[in-house]
Amino acid sequence: MLLQRNCFEPEMLLFMTSRLKILIAASEAAPFAKEGGLGDVVGALPRYLASLGHDVRVVMPRYYKIDRSKLHQRPEVLGVPMGSLGTLWGGILEGQLPGSTVPVYFIEHEGFFGRASLYTEHGESYADNDLRFTFLSKASLELCRILDFAPDIIHVHDWHTAIIPLLLNSSYRYDPWVGQSASLLSIHNMQHQGNFPKGLMNVLGVGWQHFNPAELEAFDRVNLLKGGMAHATLLSTVSEGYAREIQTATYGYGLEGQVQRRAADLYGILNGVDYEEWNPETDPFLVANYTADNLQGKALCKADLQRRFQLPRRPEVPLFGLVSRLVEQKGVDILAAALHRLLTLDLQFVLLGNGEPWTHFFFGDIARQHPDQFACRIGYDNALAHQIEAGSDFFVMPSRFEPCGLNQMYSLRYGTPPIVRATGGLDDSVENFDEARHSGTGFKFYDLTPEALFDTIGWATHTYSHNRAGLASLIRNGMAQRFTWEGAAERYVELYQEAIRRRRGV
Ligand code: ADP
Ligand code: GLC
Repeated sequence: MLLQRNCFEPEMLLFMTSRLKILIAASEAAPFAKEGGLGDVVGALPRYLASLGHDVRVVMPRYYKIDRSKLHQRPEVLGVPMGSLGTLWGGILEGQLPGSTVPVYFIEHEGFFGRASLYTEHGESYADNDLRFTFLSKASLELCRILDFAPDIIHVHDWHTAIIPLLLNSSYRYDPWVGQSASLLSIHNMQHQGNFPKGLMNVLGVGWQHFNPAELEAFDRVNLLKGGMAHATLLSTVSEGYAREIQTATYGYGLEGQVQRRAADLYGILNGVDYEEWNPETDPFLVANYTADNLQGKALCKADLQRRFQLPRRPEVPLFGLVSRLVEQKGVDILAAALHRLLTLDLQFVLLGNGEPWTHFFFGDIARQHPDQFACRIGYDNALAHQIEAGSDFFVMPSRFEPCGLNQMYSLRYGTPPIVRATGGLDDSVENFDEARHSGTGFKFYDLTPEALFDTIGWATHTYSHNRAGLASLIRNGMAQRFTWEGAAERYVELYQEAIRRRRGV
């Protein structure tokens, strides 16, 4: 049970049967704009909430790359009070999440969002990200007035919209549309907190009394995530494991004290997978489809992947795949440190990703030195990500921390046992291989060291060559696993109901 409270108390029954009005405010949503799993989540969750019968709407920026010709321009102009900057004006474009009737409102402001990227360019964060996402947050609340929409709950994600709960408790406390709205802050990543010079206080317009260590202040700067954590009616993270981890100094990135203070209000809900997109039986990106009962197509996908990466076509050698943002979080430095030794084993490795510049040079060099064993593609390529999931024998995720992680779930469905560091959502979603009982779905290691990664990849390599029956059970067990959005959406609704009850004091 997610919540302790008895769901059959009369006032709870009222909420449980009513159609909730839900506003989801976020910086990205697939397929419109996505940098990582956050986009996947915001693109999927609302559709499942809507199919449970709720009135759910999404608000996000209209980035330059989002094609406005497919959207409907609303006639209203949005006036956003930006404190010392005065009122800034924005437009509203309206669309829908594909495959649903969920409205998406795109906040338009050429100066803030008419740029090549979402957050960074040439490796540098935009200098005015504080203003850009303060504008988005306030515009989301002003939008409710324009739509005459009074949400029961506003669900915000990560630091970008984390100021909303504080706004709801201060300048918007008596607003006719959002004054009664409860809030849920979902934390997808504690490393990025929205940490800015304190001059931002003048733009937030919430009053300097909120600039204190229990709310917005951290090291004499404004920390937007911290403020959101203090004020959200409830908090969640994207796995139970990560909800525990962020209460410690290793994973809390300085905000562990703030998490501990709100620990009783913090829940972990594992993300779901969009099995319409990630299904080896129907995946249009693959040369051949396959099922758990007939893996012949998977062998063809492996040969195709070797061809794409110009690796020798050797069915007998295990092929390891990795698709990731190439950043510290993902433990790519650990992989880099283990790689020379790993390539002494008879294995092949393909890597797709982009991120920190050193990784591009490093992995490119390794590919040139070991053309028969290691190949990489620096960039973002959704079709290739699908082909790697299907064509690899194992999928590697040596994450330093992983709030949920989606690729290990995809790889389970594709019969590609994941090799993961036992942290956060990776630990929660992968069960370690037990050779004696033929149970488990993947391989786990615990220490964040090149040695531990080497040993575990060595274990997988040995299993591939010498324990075919064990490997077959791993594949079968993994392919039978389901992490559904239906289940996750129901748990979010329970959380929304609890948050609404608290906000209204019933
Ligand atoms: P994170 O959000 O921390 O990056 P997740 O595992 O939650 O990690 O989500 C990553 C998502 O982004 C997945 O859908 C994954 O397939 C995709 N992805 C990441 N890097 C690439 C890439 N270079 N090319 C294609 N897809 C990628
Ligand atoms: C973050 C996390 C990732 C998670 C994703 C979606 O980007 O790094 O682990 O899966 O958010 O919740």
